[in-house]
Amino acid sequence: MGSRIKSSTLTIPATTVIPRHVAIIMDGNGRWANQRFLPRVAGHSKGLDAVREIVEQCTTHGIEYLTLFAFSSENWRRPKEEVTFLMNLFFKALDKEVARLHTNNIRLRLIGDMTEFPKNIQKRVIEAERLTEKNTGLVLTIAANYGGRWDILNATRQALIENPNTNPADINEAWLHPYLAMSYAPEPDLFIRTGGEQRVSNFLLWQLAYTEMYFTDTFWPDFDANAFSASLEWYRKRERRFGQTGLQVLENVIIKNA
Ligand code: IPE
Ligand code: IPE
Ligand code: MG
Repeated sequence: MGSRIKSSTLTIPATTVIPRHVAIIMDGNGRWANQRFLPRVAGHSKGLDAVREIVEQCTTHGIEYLTLFAFSSENWRRPKEEVTFLMNLFFKALDKEVARLHTNNIRLRLIGDMTEFPKNIQKRVIEAERLTEKNTGLVLTIAANYGGRWDILNATRQALIENPNTNPADINEAWLHPYLAMSYAPEPDLFIRTGGEQRVSNFLLWQLAYTEMYFTDTFWPDFDANAFSASLEWYRKRERRFGQTGLQVLENVIIKNA
């Protein structure tokens, strides 16, 4: 069951020196722009260059899944002009970048409540997901209008719609798992938040249960290959215990290498 439901609270996943799944809160675009006396939105445009670079780096390092938080369910609270700018940037990025992702064998997926997005974006998203669905390289997930609490509630609702006669005693992780937005991926090994804040901001609440958390003051537009390598180096030094003692982890390594 463990391998099927990929849950770090039910079975201890095999861990590798390079994370299989990296999830990033790309924060600090506005402050990057403010520092340069530019409008906040200039930081978002520049942030797209960083996305390109990190996607490329993931492929170089052999990372299997990259999940990027692009727009939270709370970001609608921003000034209308900024929200509109972000929507347009997202639309343009879908238009411009998808062909290149496809050429590079990258599979694009979107998580979040797409129904609140403009129709032209929803259409582009479906087309892009279809175009790249057979690609076998990096799985690039963009979280847009995503919220961790939305994900858990939405999964519960979907699970109950499909299994209306569920006995409450049968509600467990395996029951809920197929309905969670990222059920296709192993849970993130490494979480990165740029921009100096040390909070989760309603990102993958369920999936981050045993993820290693890396925080850096670097603003997202400045997060380059070197900064990414530093986070991978930090990850390499973590001892992932999943509830065990350090001694048990060491014994497992010795047994594995015997
Ligand atoms: C993250 O950068 C991008 C989005 C939320 C879309 P911010 O826009 O939050 O930048 P800061 O935190 O204000 O600097
Ligand atoms: C989180 O960043 C969301 C994204 C990066 C898309 P925010 O900048 O919106 O987070 P808070 O509001 O500072 O927690
Ligand atoms: Mg921010």
